[in-house]
This record gives sequence, structure tokens and C-alpha cells, in this order.
Amino acid sequence: MSPKLFVLFVIFILHGHGSRASDPDPIQDFCIPNPKFGSIKVAHLTILPCKNSSEATTDDFVFSGLKSAGNFSDTGLATIPVNPTVFPGINTLGMSFVRADLRVGAINPPHFHPRATEIAYVVQGSVYSGFVDSSSRVFARVIKQGEVMVFPRGLMHFQMNVGDEPATIFGSFNSQNPGNQKIPSAIFGSGIDVELLEKAFGLSPKQIGTMRRRFDPKTVQ
Ligand SMILES: *[C@@H]1O[C@H](CO)[C@@H](O)[C@H](O)[C@H]1NC(C)=O
Ligand SMILES: *[C@@H]1O[C@H](CO)[C@@H](O)[C@H](O)[C@H]1NC(C)=O
Repeated sequence: MSPKLFVLFVIFILHGHGSRASDPDPIQDFCIPNPKFGSIKVAHLTILPCKNSSEATTDDFVFSGLKSAGNFSDTGLATIPVNPTVFPGINTLGMSFVRADLRVGAINPPHFHPRATEIAYVVQGSVYSGFVDSSSRVFARVIKQGEVMVFPRGLMHFQMNVGDEPATIFGSFNSQNPGNQKIPSAIFGSGIDVELLEKAFGLSPKQIGTMRRRFDPKTVQ
């Protein structure tokens, strides 16, 4: 199928299903993106046109980039998001994953994934983990090596390494493009009018300025 036809077909599928709650079902065994075609945006989806399946190789279905931690930020968090951009074999399969490493005491700040539920498996360490539901009730506790916690789709969640060794977490998502909205930078680093933030949080202009400098995405991760 040509890329144009494929896009039309996807529009048709999306239209037919209205607002679907999860990624569309695959319409073929697999779809290894063809780098020659780049990517195409359709609604909230990024479509990666496939290469001819006869050109797929075993290596397209193997990802070797999770053996060690990613690059640590100043706050002690390292993440390796594994999506179709880095792992072509999972394109169109409705899932993706992430390796997160936390130094002792480090946090993964409150954030949420608009398009995916996450299952987080603690490979190593002790991690205070939790989420907040839409009635502002928190569900949180320390989970240890071998335990998993589920973060329901769209709900804010967070993690902190409370052990005395580095922690490694493996997160799995039921979307190939879960999205990641980080609460601090969404609020203080996005350019929302200062007056609104003052009224919402009961803070002075000076305090808002401090938060803005701290969470401007241009200066922090
Ligand atoms: C895919 O490759 C096969 C084998 O080379 C070829 O016969 C077929 O026409 C190709 N399909 C498309 C859509 O290009
Ligand atoms: C870590 O940083 C190096 C140098 O900038 C880069 O080449 C590498 O791809 C990064 N690793 C990850 C997992 O992002």
C-alpha cells in the first residue's frame, strides 16, 4: 500500500471508531518504518509508513539499548524511552516501554501519560511509588525489587528512590506513543499568564518567578 493510501485508510479507521481509547489495531503482521518516508501526523497519531515486509530482518525486532542506564540528569534520573523511533519492530503494535534509573534519593517528578496505562516493574531497589486519582486521593507506598505497580492511564504518578542503592525500573505502556506531561514544567514552564498562576496557587509574583526559572523546560529536564 502506498503511503498516501495508508494515511487515507488510517483516517477512515479513526473516523469509524470515533475517539478510541487505545492505539488502533494493527492491520498487518508488523510495520517496520521506512526511514526514507519519514513520519506523517494524523490527528494525535504519528504514522510511520512501512517498508516492504520482505525487507524486514530479525534485527528489526531486537532492541539492545536497555542493558545499562541512560544519561543521568542533574536530579539523578536517567530514562531510556523505547518507542518506534528507536525500536522499529514495535511500530503499530500498541505498546512501548522505558528503562528508568534513579540514584539514591532521586525522584521521577509527578507526571502523567495521556494515552497509556503504565505497569512499572522494580528491577532493583526500593521505590516510593504512587498515583493520585481524580478525587485527589493518593495511592502510594514503597515497592521493592520484583514488585510491580500500575499507573492508570492519564493519572498523575511519581517515584522516589528511598533505598540505599541505585534503583532500576522497567515501565511498560499500552500505547506506542504514551506522551509524558510533566506537572511542574506544564504549570510553571509553559508560559501560562503569571496572574492566573498567582491566583491559582496563592503565590506572589516573585515566588512565581522563582518557580518559572526552576521549571522552564529550556533550563531543566
Ligand atoms: C515487496 O517485495 C516483494 C519481493 O521483492 C515484491 O514482489 C513486492 O511487489 C513488493 N511489494 C510492494 C508493495 O512493493
Ligand atoms: C547519552 O549521551 C550521549 C552523548 O550526548 C549520547 O550519544 C547517547 O545517545 C545518550 N544516551 C542515551 C541513552 O540517550
